[in-house]
Amino acid sequence: MTLRVAVLASGRGSNLQALIDARARGVLDVEFAGVFSDRATAHALDRAREAGIPAMALSPKSHATRVAFDAALFAAVDAVQPQLIVCAGYMRILDDSVVAARPGRMINIHPSLLPRHRGLRTHEAVLAAGEREHGASVHFVTPELDGGPVLAQVRMDVRDGDTPATLAQRLLPLEHALLVASVALFAQGRVALAGNNVALDGRALAAPLALTAGGALDGH
Ligand code: GRF
Repeated sequence: MTLRVAVLASGRGSNLQALIDARARGVLDVEFAGVFSDRATAHALDRAREAGIPAMALSPKSHATRVAFDAALFAAVDAVQPQLIVCAGYMRILDDSVVAARPGRMINIHPSLLPRHRGLRTHEAVLAAGEREHGASVHFVTPELDGGPVLAQVRMDVRDGDTPATLAQRLLPLEHALLVASVALFAQGRVALAGNNVALDGRALAAPLALTAGGALDGH
């Protein structure tokens, strides 16, 4: 049974594109149920339409509260019956109710080595902390912002002279590879949320999986 995936994105959509391209190359056995955005101008929606994927934007301005917006958004998401919901550059904080209703079915890609640097402006935070290592994490979405159990990570060095822009530029292709490899594990039915742990092949992970230079996930 091919995994049905819905993607939430607010902007450029390069992570979405990485998933679309991986499927087109035949290395990701998923079908895209739909792409959803809080911004009608999100380029992610154009990428979806070009790939023949249903694309929908809902405006937070047309809903009185965050709860009402999220309820409307997830009613639309539920209507396409995804098994996995991927937040790929989705920039709104999700109301606890929609997250709690979908345990183990929502993941997010975050541009830091969680639990370090939750929230926004992670590249700036790494530089401000003088850290020599940066990276990205794919984690389950839980009510705690960027706090859910981490499935997989990719690491990269911080170089002398790096700026937030150079870090973001070098990290992005690594994010793409990390997200594709992570969603592939779901497509193979190998990953689940077990309490507050990630279970791979039925066993709780002691640490996040690590993306190798070759694009495989090791550590299991
Ligand atoms: C990525 O860096 C992702 O980690 C962060 O926002 C960015 C989204 O980029 N959450 P894109 O829209 O996928 O190109």
